[in-house]
Amino acid sequence: MQADELERRIAAFPGWYYFFEFDNGVTTPALDPGTSNRHRQRGAYFFQALLALCGGSLHGRRVLDLGCNAGFWSLQALEAGADFVLGVDARQMHVDQANLVFEAKGADPARYRFETGNVFEHELAERFDVVLCLGLLDHVAKPVELFELMTRAGAEIIVIDTEVSRSRTSVFEVDSLYDPEKVVDHRLVLIPSRDAVAELAAQFGFDTVTLAQNMTDYTGMSDYRRQRRLAFICSKQASLETLPGETRPVFPWWATALRAPRAAARRRGR
Ligand SMILES: C[S@@+](CC[C@H](N)C(=O)[O-])C[C@H]1O[C@@H](n2cnc3c(N)ncnc32)[C@H](O)[C@@H]1O
Repeated sequence: MQADELERRIAAFPGWYYFFEFDNGVTTPALDPGTSNRHRQRGAYFFQALLALCGGSLHGRRVLDLGCNAGFWSLQALEAGADFVLGVDARQMHVDQANLVFEAKGADPARYRFETGNVFEHELAERFDVVLCLGLLDHVAKPVELFELMTRAGAEIIVIDTEVSRSRTSVFEVDSLYDPEKVVDHRLVLIPSRDAVAELAAQFGFDTVTLAQNMTDYTGMSDYRRQRRLAFICSKQASLETLPGETRPVFPWWATALRAPRAAARRRGR
């Protein structure tokens, strides 16, 4: 695609939440430093863990990206060697963005497809080995149905990135989406505690690891820093033992944040 045509098509969208760079030098609009750091750190957090579990590549795997938005994680999956990626999003605008990104990247159309639809009503006729459920579980009121449909799609591995309740028991907290624009089914959503994610996954035959955070910079990531957001990998067969699991902090995040500078000062002998 010619650079001027790509620029024109990118500019026709009201906004972009991800930064994409294309071979012809065209990019989507720059993001604020917090958002770009967030995507970088999320990639190093859960996507690298997925690759580690799969032996460094997604070669030979079919990937389903639920709530794919502009196809950012679908593209990571394709570039990591996935045989095929299907992205589904309820908003046509995001599916149009994803299609533009993949076309401009020169991706082989035989290796991907994007479809518009509410995941709870969308027919998934094919089988997938890996399901990306990123930023979706905390946007829905039907966590059990979500697991049902991922299991029906054949998932062997599910990557979940979600807001979590800080409850130490297995609960779902009732909350509501802060932005009415984001509502697909209901404004009310159910936010799982980390035990609830594991219990839900176990119901469908998955082992789960809560991934240990490895962020080097929490700019734009205060939800992760406050342990209000975590990622999980659920697996039916592959052992999760090699993945770094998050141990539940003894102190709440804010106590740790207060203690760290004091401990450093003590070490410096002040
Ligand atoms: C918070 S964004 C997450 C985007 C991306 N997966 C990520 O983690 O960076 C949630 C996405 O899920 C989509 N979405 C929310 N509910 C949905 C539903 N029931 N069916 C399909 N897509 C949905 C939204 O349109 C939005 O693009």
